[in-house]
Amino acid sequence: MSDMPIVSPFVPWVPTPNRKRRHVLDLDDFSAAEIIDVLDAATSMKEVLGRSVPQVPILRGRTVVNVFYEESTRTRMSFELAARTLSAATMSMTAKGSSVEKGESLIDTIRTIQALGADIIVIRHGESGAPYLAAQHFKGSIINAGDGRHAHPSQALLDLFTIRERLGELKGLNVTIVGDILHSRVARSNIWGMLRCGMNVTLCAPSTLIGDVRMWQETFPTLKISYDLDAIIPDTDVLMGLRLQKERMQAGLLPALREYSTYFGINQTRIDNLPDHAIVMHPGPMNEGVEIMPEAADSPRSVIEAQVTNGVAVRMALLYRLSGEATA
Ligand code: CP
Repeated sequence: MSDMPIVSPFVPWVPTPNRKRRHVLDLDDFSAAEIIDVLDAATSMKEVLGRSVPQVPILRGRTVVNVFYEESTRTRMSFELAARTLSAATMSMTAKGSSVEKGESLIDTIRTIQALGADIIVIRHGESGAPYLAAQHFKGSIINAGDGRHAHPSQALLDLFTIRERLGELKGLNVTIVGDILHSRVARSNIWGMLRCGMNVTLCAPSTLIGDVRMWQETFPTLKISYDLDAIIPDTDVLMGLRLQKERMQAGLLPALREYSTYFGINQTRIDNLPDHAIVMHPGPMNEGVEIMPEAADSPRSVIEAQVTNGVAVRMALLYRLSGEATA
């Protein structure tokens, strides 16, 4: 059976507060209240993770399956740890080494995993919209663990959790997202979540890596765009660097990596020019020496390792939120 066309995920869903959630496909259908609920639940989950026996029976009897068509270290391992901590049975599949290599379609793969008893599928795919297609053919719940350049909602939620943990609140904070915006699903999901939570977001990149400026302005009227990182650093509370996604990049978008680092890299001088309370983030994996210098990644301002640690609690909170609807 061939796959149906993947629906466009770029049309935002309207948030419907209090709706019982079945899938987590992006943050565009999360209200601010639901985001805060997830962050509060993640705070409780973090307390569970700190116990001598970190396990609770919330997902006992349920099966969570990781289905990864693209590489991952943080997202895959933290979803697995999150599911196990909630007492779920876990299975995982990567495209490499599976029947995907024999040509099995996404829909048939999802139906096969359903036949094996999955309740929740966590899926990463190189094509934007693939998790939406999976959601149309699966009776349980789908969590998008990153689709093409479209969305990475669990990453955005763990970023929001880490910001709130470090700075105490979200509303009114000035966030600068610097780097390869064009190819970044992390940026897109963060923009939805941050704006919903009342944060002020500025995108900063060379014009070739910003994307369609008119689309940004029409979709997010309050979003700011800057091409001058040094000018906005002194007003930045949260500086988020993004990885240069060379694997998705067409030739010619960057004349030279060294020039890119000079104008848009996070280095010690730029860290020194941030306000005293400001934090530096990066979703990982990093190209150290390109978009962030080693001294910046390891500086006291850096919360990059905390982001990874918090990913487990936030993903537990997401699995918990879906648990009521997850039975096929
Ligand atoms: N941030 C992130 O998605 O990292 P991985 O690709 O290692 O999962």
